[in-house]
Amino acid sequence: MKDIEALRAQLEAVGQEHLLRFWEELDDRRRDHLAAQIEAIEFDRLPQWIDQYVLHKPEFELPQRIEPPVWYPRDPGNPRRPYDAGRFRAAGEDLVRQGRVSAFCVAGGQGTRLGWDGPKGTYPATPITRKPLFQVFAEQLFAAGRRWGRSIPLYVMTSPLNHEPTVEFFAQREYFGLPREDVMFFQQGVMPSFDRQSGRILLAARDELAVNPDGHGGSLRALYRSGAIDDMIKRGVQHISYIQVDNPHVRVIDPLFIGLHAAAEDSSGEMSSKMLPKTGPFEKLGNFCRVDGRTTIIEYSDLPDELAEQRDERGELRFGAGSLAIHCIGVDFIRRLNTTPSSGSAGEGRGGGGFALPLHRADKKIPHVDLDTGHIVEPAEPNGVKLETFVFDALPLCEASIILETDRVEEFAPIKNLSGVDSAESSRALQIERAARWLEAAGVRTPRNDRRECTAIIEISPLTALEAADLQNAKDLPASIAPGAEVVL
Ligand code: UTP
Repeated sequence: MKDIEALRAQLEAVGQEHLLRFWEELDDRRRDHLAAQIEAIEFDRLPQWIDQYVLHKPEFELPQRIEPPVWYPRDPGNPRRPYDAGRFRAAGEDLVRQGRVSAFCVAGGQGTRLGWDGPKGTYPATPITRKPLFQVFAEQLFAAGRRWGRSIPLYVMTSPLNHEPTVEFFAQREYFGLPREDVMFFQQGVMPSFDRQSGRILLAARDELAVNPDGHGGSLRALYRSGAIDDMIKRGVQHISYIQVDNPHVRVIDPLFIGLHAAAEDSSGEMSSKMLPKTGPFEKLGNFCRVDGRTTIIEYSDLPDELAEQRDERGELRFGAGSLAIHCIGVDFIRRLNTTPSSGSAGEGRGGGGFALPLHRADKKIPHVDLDTGHIVEPAEPNGVKLETFVFDALPLCEASIILETDRVEEFAPIKNLSGVDSAESSRALQIERAARWLEAAGVRTPRNDRRECTAIIEISPLTALEAADLQNAKDLPASIAPGAEVVL
């Protein structure tokens, strides 16, 4: 039985005693459940979070000197910065062959915009066979393991809100052919969700706090606390290929990127990123910048228009390098963050050992229990605040962090929304376009309309090709594809 009075006093001290509003009517099991959740609250930080982030909207402090980033161009022959892509690609392949690389998919988000009933990784994403996102990544890993003769471990981060269905999904589908012992799951932490008027923590049920996963930045702590980092060290893994669950075009294992991250002179091997040239100054992608000599991402909403629109002598946007949330992260870097006192930045944020990532606020519609009636309220307008940390806020903690340019169609087909921008629909069109380009590069004629859009539906399995070059010597390719045809390769 919990010491209810001690708990009540603790809550009163931070203005949260309403969390025990329904205590009297709960049975012992439900009381224990609620008390355990309350005990997990970070009471020492709570008042500051509420004051700075919930009751007030924190102002973004623009750094004094922001410089454009430097990156490795997609074309290694680009005179802007030529480099030996063959050498770095070979270095990356060696690391994969030696078992030094793991894949890591952050899949703990709530996916509210897509509104899919289940973990986002279970969403049927491909144009014809409707493969779930998790399968697309697993097949890439399977094919990569086959190519480089080494099974590549996959770590999947879930949250307490979607852990069970995620694990079950993989188990039911027999890990999509990956060795069972090479697929690991762990849960990220959660933060309480707040009422934005009063700063009170919301109740999801009479015996349950409303919580949200603590953001993809929570992965840097969860990787360590869950034992995943220890497991990687035991396996000899040194580098983590970080991907998000919503982009079926991500190259889960990209030897060139891994090689640059691990071996380029200007990389500390701590955390590297891929970037896309933005379509315009206001495209909603985070902007790579350099601040005090360190790679930093400033959110599109925080970059002043005047900077966003600046152009260089070639007429290109000075701050036109957009982030697509693909990173390579050093195992040692994560260990250092979690074990070294004060290796971090803003103290008010959330981290592991000594590091703390800044918090970001999002206003959301959060269903909750009405404290007077006890009934569940489904708000029509945002009523609550969710606090999260972002993984890219770890970039300025690196000594030297490199960026590799990639191509939009090749690597960016995110599924965030049901329709419109970054949706299931736009992703499907991009998947077909990429498949058509790969086939054309292999000499196959594909049908296109006046707008140059492919008029067939084509899907290429990762088991058939991981990149365009894999089709060059493929047998059984058709000479041409008819308009309206459905082709699975
Ligand atoms: P998003 O920022 O798109 O958020 O996540 P989301 O929760 O999936 O979707 P919305 O905003 O509710 O519609 C980008 C990636 O980060 C992961 C997601 O699973 C996705 O792979 N993520 C996000 C986490 O793993 N944990 C989090 O707490 C938040």
